[in-house]
Amino acid sequence: MKILLLGSGGREHALAWKLSQSPDCTSLYIAPGNAGTQLHGVNVDISPVDFPAIKQFCFDAKIDMVVVGPEEPLVKGIYDYFTSDVDLKSIYVIGPSAQAAKLEGSKAFAKAFMYRHNIPTAAYREFDLENYAEGITYLQAQPIPIVLKADGLAAGKGVIIAQNHVEAMAEFELMIQQSKFGEASKKVVVEEFLTGVELSVFVLTDGNDYLVLPEAKDYKRIGEGDAGLNTGGMGAVSPVPFADSIFMEKVRTRIIEPTIRGIREEKLDYKGFVFIGIISVNNEPYVIEYNCRLGDPETEVVLPRLKNDLVHLFRAVAEGTLKDMQVEIDNRSAATVMLVSGGYPGNYEKGFEIHGLDILNEDDVMVFHAGTKQKENAILTNGGRVLAVTAYGPGITEAVKRSLKIIEFIEFDGMYYRKDIGYEFSL
Ligand code: AMP
Ligand code: GLY
Repeated sequence: MKILLLGSGGREHALAWKLSQSPDCTSLYIAPGNAGTQLHGVNVDISPVDFPAIKQFCFDAKIDMVVVGPEEPLVKGIYDYFTSDVDLKSIYVIGPSAQAAKLEGSKAFAKAFMYRHNIPTAAYREFDLENYAEGITYLQAQPIPIVLKADGLAAGKGVIIAQNHVEAMAEFELMIQQSKFGEASKKVVVEEFLTGVELSVFVLTDGNDYLVLPEAKDYKRIGEGDAGLNTGGMGAVSPVPFADSIFMEKVRTRIIEPTIRGIREEKLDYKGFVFIGIISVNNEPYVIEYNCRLGDPETEVVLPRLKNDLVHLFRAVAEGTLKDMQVEIDNRSAATVMLVSGGYPGNYEKGFEIHGLDILNEDDVMVFHAGTKQKENAILTNGGRVLAVTAYGPGITEAVKRSLKIIEFIEFDGMYYRKDIGYEFSL
């Protein structure tokens, strides 16, 4: 199979690493990729949302399967672009249709879907300019903290947890009246605040059947002890100790099954990953959000724990035969620690040379590139999140320790990372 993978982050490096291990992957191209993905395939300089250029490339390289890493091309309809084109429709696309991707692309759509299918989630209301005044009255009557979510995609920044009513109303006005997140915040979902611990659950579906991949927990805050600003993710671990078989059975029966049934009943064309962000409130699972893709940095611990041939799984997704497959999971724990640029998630500089990558050749460690680029013989920083250093261990503590040990060899100007990933699960 000739495969084109779209995206350029740590998630895509992990996907490229995993896909390239399959004997059925005869060629792998990554658009646009990074300095890490080119170790497993050929980078091509095409944007994941430039559909005509992707189409041309698929013809030229005789691509059989397109694997979509990030959400933007999915929400913009890449699946539909392929399936509605006579020349492209024989190519497998791993990812949902635009309508199904609304589970991520519209918070209001996702909440209504959960309500229709009795899937446990926080109570909510949705507001826009038309019922703005009603929204203000509603906000004033709600307990604090209260959660405000821009309806559309806002690059991971569209969720505000307001600690008092003044802040809640100011944000509400900014989002709806001043278009704080552009079109995305013309509509706002106001949601009850849930207190608990979070985990990320990944489901692969062909639209009828599903497989549950290893779960993970990511660490979103920049500072140790989960302090400071939100980031794209500073590290992740898998498995998640509180997600024991009793808890996961609740997740399966109350959340995963009704979600897949809902997708089927509503005839949503969905052949890809459903990432369910879950919060455990006193051991009862609630859905915080759906995403229509894998998580980053969760992928950097989930795929290393998946023993299956990923190309076989994807082919089963595309051909609708997932019911014949089973997941095989590596019993070891995996942890990833993200190395980020100084100043991230605020302003940061790029273009610093990364040292120490050449000496790494251990089979229980994977250094996934997130924001890097090759310039002549050097590898340079090229983003806020730069590298995800993943290691295995018999338990989370050992896996994190191993990752931190490897990081000692790596260096670039301004490099920062959290040393406490997995801290709450340390023995
Ligand atoms: P999202 O962009 O939907 O992933 O939200 C970002 C983060 O906000 C989540 O990972 C949670 O930590 C937090 N969050 C979202 N919704 C709620 C809620 N209803 N209660 C508590 N925290 C929430
Ligand atoms: N790690 C969370 C996400 O990928 O959205």
